Amino acid sequence: MGWLLIIVALGCIPWTYAAEDLSQWVNPLIGTVGAYPKSTVAGGHEFPGAAVPFGVVKIGIDTSGARLIPFDTINGGYSPLGNFTAISLMHESGTGGEPKYGVVAQTPLVGDLKAQGINVGNNWTYLVPRVSDTARVGHWTSALKNGITLDLTATAHTGFTRYTYPKSGDRHVLVDLAHVLPTGNGAGVGQQFVSGSISINNDPSAASSPTKPSYTGYAEYNGGFNRGPTWRIYFCGTFSQAFDQSKSGVFKYPYDPNQLSAIPPTTIIPLNQNNQASAPPNSNIAVGGLFTWTSGSIVESRIGISFISAEKACGFIADESPADQTFEQTVEKAKALWNENVLSSVTIPDDGNRNETMLRMLYTGLYYTGLMPSNRTGENPGWVTTEPSYDDFYTLWDIFRCLTPWYHLVQSTAYVEMIRSIIDIFLHDGWTPDGRSSDANGLTQGGSNADNVLGDAFVKGLDTYPSINWTLGWEAIVNDAEVIPPVTDSLTFDGRNKEGRGGLDDWIKIGWLTREHHTRCISRTVEYAQNDFALYQIAKRTNRVADAQKYLKRAKQWENLWNPNMVSNLSVGDFSGFLTPRDADGSWNLAGIAGTTTFNVTDCGDCEWDADTYEATAWEYSMNVPHDVANLIGKMGGPSGFTKRLDTMFIQGLSSGGGSANTAGTSLFNAGNEPDFLTPFLYNYVPGYQWSTVNQSRNVIDRYYNDQANGIPGNSDAGAMQSWMIWNFVGLYPVTGQPLYLLHAPRFKALDIRLLTPQLQNPNAQPAILQIRAPGYSETNFWPQSIKLNNQTLDRVYVWHSEIENGATLEWEMGSAPSQWDKDFSPPPSLSTGGL
Ligand SMILES: *[C@@H]1O[C@H](CO)[C@@H](O)[C@H](O)[C@H]1NC(C)=O
Ligand SMILES: *[C@@H]1O[C@H](CO)[C@@H](O)[C@H](O)[C@H]1NC(C)=O
Ligand SMILES: *[C@@H]1O[C@H](CO)[C@@H](O)[C@H](O)[C@H]1NC(C)=O
Ligand SMILES: *[C@@H]1O[C@H](CO)[C@@H](O)[C@H](O)[C@H]1NC(C)=O
Ligand SMILES: *[C@@H]1O[C@H](CO)[C@@H](O)[C@H](O)[C@H]1NC(C)=O
Ligand SMILES: *[C@@H]1O[C@H](CO)[C@@H](O)[C@H](O)[C@H]1NC(C)=O
Ligand SMILES: *[C@@H]1O[C@H](CO)[C@@H](O)[C@H](O)[C@H]1NC(C)=O
Ligand SMILES: *[C@@H]1O[C@H](CO)[C@@H](O)[C@H](O)[C@H]1NC(C)=O
Ligand SMILES: *[C@@H]1O[C@H](CO)[C@@H](O)[C@H](O)[C@H]1NC(C)=O
Repeated sequence: MGWLLIIVALGCIPWTYAAEDLSQWVNPLIGTVGAYPKSTVAGGHEFPGAAVPFGVVKIGIDTSGARLIPFDTINGGYSPLGNFTAISLMHESGTGGEPKYGVVAQTPLVGDLKAQGINVGNNWTYLVPRVSDTARVGHWTSALKNGITLDLTATAHTGFTRYTYPKSGDRHVLVDLAHVLPTGNGAGVGQQFVSGSISINNDPSAASSPTKPSYTGYAEYNGGFNRGPTWRIYFCGTFSQAFDQSKSGVFKYPYDPNQLSAIPPTTIIPLNQNNQASAPPNSNIAVGGLFTWTSGSIVESRIGISFISAEKACGFIADESPADQTFEQTVEKAKALWNENVLSSVTIPDDGNRNETMLRMLYTGLYYTGLMPSNRTGENPGWVTTEPSYDDFYTLWDIFRCLTPWYHLVQSTAYVEMIRSIIDIFLHDGWTPDGRSSDANGLTQGGSNADNVLGDAFVKGLDTYPSINWTLGWEAIVNDAEVIPPVTDSLTFDGRNKEGRGGLDDWIKIGWLTREHHTRCISRTVEYAQNDFALYQIAKRTNRVADAQKYLKRAKQWENLWNPNMVSNLSVGDFSGFLTPRDADGSWNLAGIAGTTTFNVTDCGDCEWDADTYEATAWEYSMNVPHDVANLIGKMGGPSGFTKRLDTMFIQGLSSGGGSANTAGTSLFNAGNEPDFLTPFLYNYVPGYQWSTVNQSRNVIDRYYNDQANGIPGNSDAGAMQSWMIWNFVGLYPVTGQPLYLLHAPRFKALDIRLLTPQLQNPNAQPAILQIRAPGYSETNFWPQSIKLNNQTLDRVYVWHSEIENGATLEWEMGSAPSQWDKDFSPPPSLSTGGL
């Protein structure tokens, strides 16, 4: 960057680190595989292709793999082990469950297809191994074994592909409308191609223009993780060269979503006969197009997508990917957006001695907080709205704990748009989303977690934000809290798993979810309590006195499942007092899960939809009452009983571990699942034990996170995992629903967080900086001895949101041994001690 440019840049951005290309520290392959080498099983399921922040288009390669290892799930499109099948424009990042998307595809092929045995109606006949993959921010490259190299980049609504073909043979691009991500373990929610249509523009003058459409159309699909109903996407593709009219055309083949066509399309219908092919809904026909060039080594294609119309899809190419903008320039633009909008949220002043491993972990982590949800503003197919539209919320259950609080600070304007979109979804669909994709609410794992998101935003200053309609926001969460959702599915016997709170009948009438009436009776009971705490927080602050009383009472109802006599029999000693299942008549229901005689607090079976506890054990959920930790401490035998229990959770070997439900390691604490996210920080609630928060949280990071492909301990869940890591690096941790951050210890000597929170008061305000300083920090000198806020020594182990939202300096004095520096402090506030 030239001299002059720096001065100009400084004129509008008042910090000096902006010049560093932070994208150099991002490796999008971190978090793409799990514990088994090169397999995606229990891995991060990251999408490693090209995108812009919160982009609609996430363009990347799709691979086979499902048949190789039983559960190799290709949720991000990509598995290192798999073979290349296609490039597609829509992906999720970091999801579990069944794959979603992998649509609007192209596959480059080369040579005489017939001679190679290629049937364009069967991807098993043309899948091809890769020689290499290169992942960079905004730019993906794969070299295929057939000699083709593909380069991919993206804008918000367009993908840009560049195919470099080997010297000889016809060059082709296959467009198969039926291409979707391969299903993993099925579970009846694999995706299906439903219908579609493709038209090829056979006007050679149009075909030779990089921005005039060569083909347009739409396709419809259903299924995927959110069990979405049929939805439609429009597309518009262009090519940089005119294709050979006599060798290009459309085709149809018999479609079976599970078994691809053994019967090749009899002919590729040449363009002079027909330039259009359609598959009516559920006709079991797939359609596509094949484009062929007989010379030239490079073909580029720009592809736009829209939920509204093919014209709009073409319009996005004209707007975002104009003819005079090269592939390289598009890459640079994408990179600049990441640097400016996401990566520079955190800067590490360069003292010449930065730990590059840590930089790779930090910036790759930040990168993965910016891929989901997708900003579909202006592209809402469901209703006409002036509100922002976001989709691909995966899932609020995963992200409410520490990703949405991170957005609040550093993506404040995007966060406001997400909240407005959640409220708009309630207005038009009748329910807030939890897991939402393809514009359809789909699955709710526990509580109705939009309540937690809205409650947290409200108490942290968004209560006065003018463009959020809080009247409607309140209606939305009261709907969650009061209206029993309809039966929507047969996933569980209680069948109300799409939205809202499926166990609300028991919750209101009985005061807990009974095992007789509901699955996930323990986990949903504690989560509903937290949801109602969020309602209480808003009610209290808006003088809704009766509502505040009601939801305060309900926020305490988790206690109804507290069974003081339940004993866990562990080799390291017994603990008593856990959440256990209970019947409607008040008696404890301690029958064991299948194959066992008594309820076991450290075993949740498959820990899935039918379990008593979802994705964690009763032991773990018994620690999961963020709004009333003081109460938990009392129930667990006071400070010493509580810390002993916490210590026990980090001992390796006390749980079976081993991959089911993303279990990482063999401690009772599971780094791979969200219900445990707050656990290591709970020592902060016991005066004199802040050092232990630091010890355990550091150990978790060091054991489970790294800068390799398997560098996160489970599905990323749309960046939830990475946001947890980032909070660990900066030394703070949010308690969703309360306007505060627990303090532990940063892992850098100095670190600046760019807060956009001032813009929540004034859209034109400059960002503020939260300076994190620990000048004495090293890998052996990391134990806090005191913490200063703006030069004042703190006498507590947390800070209020209001103390940092407009910028602040937090400075840690570090020592080489643990200190009980906080032994005389009051613990952070809890509901039952009245301090909120
Ligand atoms: C990938 O292709 C290679 C060579 O054609 C084949 O041996 C291998 O089984 C394929 N693997 C998958 C997962 O499709
Ligand atoms: C081929 O595509 C279908 C979807 O049309 C998918 O179900 C199947 O798994 C794909 N096969 C491979 C090898 O990816
Ligand atoms: C750099 O960070 C990594 C990851 O935390 C750590 O393993 C390594 O020891 C650090 N290196 C130095 C020189 O501190
Ligand atoms: C979301 O998309 C809309 C429409 O493209 C745009 O105006 C808005 O700025 C985007 N929001 C963010 C946070 O980028
Ligand atoms: C908020 O939403 C309600 C319900 O739709 C509506 O009556 C009201 O006018 C909205 N308020 C504002 C300020 O838009
Ligand atoms: C745990 O041990 C106690 C006494 O040793 C026994 O009464 C109880 O049944 C055991 N519980 C389980 C779940 O095995
Ligand atoms: C409880 O579950 C754990 C973990 O699966 C197991 O190790 C233990 O033996 C079980 N306890 C009893 C009493 O079955
Ligand atoms: C930190 O925690 C680990 C267990 O996770 C424990 O082995 C170690 O002794 C603790 N460190 C200190 C200083 O107590
Ligand atoms: C903190 O003290 C330093 C050095 O004494 C001073 O430069 C700085 O302005 C002070 N910061 C605040 C926020 O008071």
